[in-house]
Amino acid sequence: MSESHSSTYYDLPVRMRRLRSNPRVRSMVQETHLRPENLIAPLFVKENLSEPEPVDSMPGVFRLSIDGIVEECRKLIDAGVQAVALFPCNPPDIKDPFGSGAVDPGGLTPRAVQALKKSVPEITVITDVALDPFTSHGHDGVLNSSQTDVDNDATLNMLTQMARVLAEAGADWVAPSDMMDGRVGAIRSTLDDAGLSHVSILAYSAKFNSAYYGPFRDAVGSQSAAGKAYLDKGTYQLNPANPREAIRDALLDEEEGADLLMVKPAGPYLDIIAELRRASDLPLAAYQVSGEYAQIHAAAQKGWLDLERTRDESLLAIKRAGADLILTYFALEMARKLGGN
Ligand code: PBG
Repeated sequence: MSESHSSTYYDLPVRMRRLRSNPRVRSMVQETHLRPENLIAPLFVKENLSEPEPVDSMPGVFRLSIDGIVEECRKLIDAGVQAVALFPCNPPDIKDPFGSGAVDPGGLTPRAVQALKKSVPEITVITDVALDPFTSHGHDGVLNSSQTDVDNDATLNMLTQMARVLAEAGADWVAPSDMMDGRVGAIRSTLDDAGLSHVSILAYSAKFNSAYYGPFRDAVGSQSAAGKAYLDKGTYQLNPANPREAIRDALLDEEEGADLLMVKPAGPYLDIIAELRRASDLPLAAYQVSGEYAQIHAAAQKGWLDLERTRDESLLAIKRAGADLILTYFALEMARKLGGN
């Protein structure tokens, strides 16, 4: 430093850099922390797999057999992750326009839940409640008679049965991700009437009609069911431009009896997470979706972003915005890093 430079002295009463002077001091004043138990791992389950099947657009993510899911859950518990969210990847032959496979008590997801409850009873098992992995058209519900839109109330009838089948199989939390009106209340009363009042509802409350779900639709095959055209879910998922509508919709889920609320996607909707954190006292989850994961990996593969640092920052930002829980495909590796093993 030159003489003239170092002798310059400004009389600054506040110097923010004092508490940034070294990593130990910075750790003392760190305001937001991620912990393994904040993370939930989404897992894809598929029938008849002899080995894990990679999802092309999601490096490091695999479709797993039921045995593979059990093994993965043991690793997650060891790393401190307490919950998994299961998604089935179904072959075309079990799909139909009504999503009938969703209410089969002998279906893949109920069997995966049973296996987990038997072999890894300590893990909290969350199952998705929506028809898209089971419908030939790929929508989250049943279509109306003119095939022009999803029929809300006919779909509720399927969703309540589906939630009951999953809860009876042993699911700890059911997670309606369909965005039909009234589904949380309908599921709550169906579960309560069936003696399943101990099962929690994690409501996908503010779920946006997002382009970031693309890789997930590859993973579960719901896009290929719909053919080449982009599958528009705009008549039930939220318009990305509408924060007020998102909060109203989420608060309805709270009134209807949801135990936890969720915002999805997470990273592009941090404002919604922050707003909902203030608007509701329920625990709040956010889903870092497939496209958020894929874009970090894609940029890292090109050498344009540092994978680990971008991963860590993306998750910390979601926590900082106000999410208590984060569903993320990075769950296992992040938990291992946080736990130091
Ligand atoms: C649909 C569902 C979707 C995801 C979870 N459940 C996608 C969709 O609405 O088509 C997306 C998750 C992700 O992208 O990681 N019930």
